[in-house]
Amino acid sequence: MALDLGTTSTRVALYDAEGNTVTIVAREHQQYFPQPGWVEHDATEIWANIRELSALALARAQLTATDIAAIGITNQRETTVAWDATTSQPVHRAIVWQDARTDAIIEHLISNGHNTAIQQTTGLNLSAYFSASKMTWLLANNDDAARLAASGSLRFGTIDSWIIWNLTGGAVHATDITNGSRTSLMNIRTGSWDYELGHVFGIDPKVLESSLPQIYPSVYDYGTVAQGLAVAGVPITGVLGDQQAASFGQTIFAAGEAKNTYGTGCFLLYNTGAEPVFSSSGLLTTVAYQLPNEDPVYALEGSVAQAGSVVQWLRDQFGIIQNSQDIEALANSVEDHGGVYFVPAFSGLFAPWWRADASGTIIGLTSYATAGHIARAALDATAYQTLDVVKAVEADTGQKLRRLNVDGGMSVNDQLMQFQADILDVDIHRSADVETTARGAAYAAGLGAGIWASTNELRALWHAGGHWTPDIVPEKRARLVAGWHAAIEHAIGWPV
Ligand code: G3P
Repeated sequence: MALDLGTTSTRVALYDAEGNTVTIVAREHQQYFPQPGWVEHDATEIWANIRELSALALARAQLTATDIAAIGITNQRETTVAWDATTSQPVHRAIVWQDARTDAIIEHLISNGHNTAIQQTTGLNLSAYFSASKMTWLLANNDDAARLAASGSLRFGTIDSWIIWNLTGGAVHATDITNGSRTSLMNIRTGSWDYELGHVFGIDPKVLESSLPQIYPSVYDYGTVAQGLAVAGVPITGVLGDQQAASFGQTIFAAGEAKNTYGTGCFLLYNTGAEPVFSSSGLLTTVAYQLPNEDPVYALEGSVAQAGSVVQWLRDQFGIIQNSQDIEALANSVEDHGGVYFVPAFSGLFAPWWRADASGTIIGLTSYATAGHIARAALDATAYQTLDVVKAVEADTGQKLRRLNVDGGMSVNDQLMQFQADILDVDIHRSADVETTARGAAYAAGLGAGIWASTNELRALWHAGGHWTPDIVPEKRARLVAGWHAAIEHAIGWPV
């Protein structure tokens, strides 16, 4: 059983030992936008959804807890929850990875020259994206957090830790190394917390020591689900951040292999093997996975904040589509983008630009432009942002990328995948199952429970679901990309 705790929805998926999907159930949760640039979730709603969906998945499949060999957890990364160890109640809504409220804290740290040292220790540049400054904000702005921190009863965690805590009835406070690598508080080489980094972020190292979870490998015996839950008694044997889980589900196990997941955001992971590679092109260094008794495997990551969330925005706030799926027909109702470019910098621009002072921009409008052109430009933006990330990977590694595996909700759009191949000049391979995030968590849990013996066995479970090769004249590609970069210039330097 995989518990997939994404940014916009929670899913529970069941797989059999041959890797076939038995059932998937899902539910969206509320997004809170209390101020421009702020994004919050109710952690208790997410936990309630997991409780109900795990029971529902079992009922749909006509199974009981005793049929489940193991649970794997995968989650939106960086999103930070603070809770009271005594009551297990959050002290504040979870601060979501996209939340930019700590931009000023980060800017201050950058202007004090901390960026290089933080990058060399944690693999991450200084950004409001990661958990550390969210903890700083909670401790400074929430009286309960400060009071509990003083008494040693505060618990900090990403969503995986919050769910492990609840599943085990408060017995286990743990995270895996891939999630740890997204906090700005973990030493990327040793896989341990560097409590001294608290000094940089304005947090007492002792508070970090008492509130942060234990870090374990991605495949590990995390404990057993407590009584009173539909999955009581089932061991939790795999935990991975969602992008690392998608990479695991795509069987990206060797150096030089890469995947791109089109989810709420869009995240490309390029496996660099046993050595962390430090980017000079705007990428992050992250842990791809760690097997028991083995060293971590590293990746370079290009994180794009807005992809599927733009479709949601076009649906809920802009109102040009009723359902998310309608975007494809609307975008295909026009021949091309009609000169329109859409830079969805709703929380600034992440990789490779890292510009908190960018905001969303639609440019190139004429009276000819229709909702179709805006829809097309919104989808194209995902392909262009992936291009910028791939160029950064190629600059850091000195290698031309030859193949990119794709997955995630938006990857089912054939037109977009063709455009992606055209713009990248790279072969695109879609896996038959685009839900590779949940699949990756199940693979990790299955390895931990002995369902599968090795990553080689998992490789045999990968099936092709589509292949696109570049089909565009280079001059046209160059013209389109130049227009995109001109649009990026306009989006930068327009802070909200
Ligand atoms: O780093 C944020 C990422 O983990 C969110 O993933 O799948 O919700 O777009 P997703």
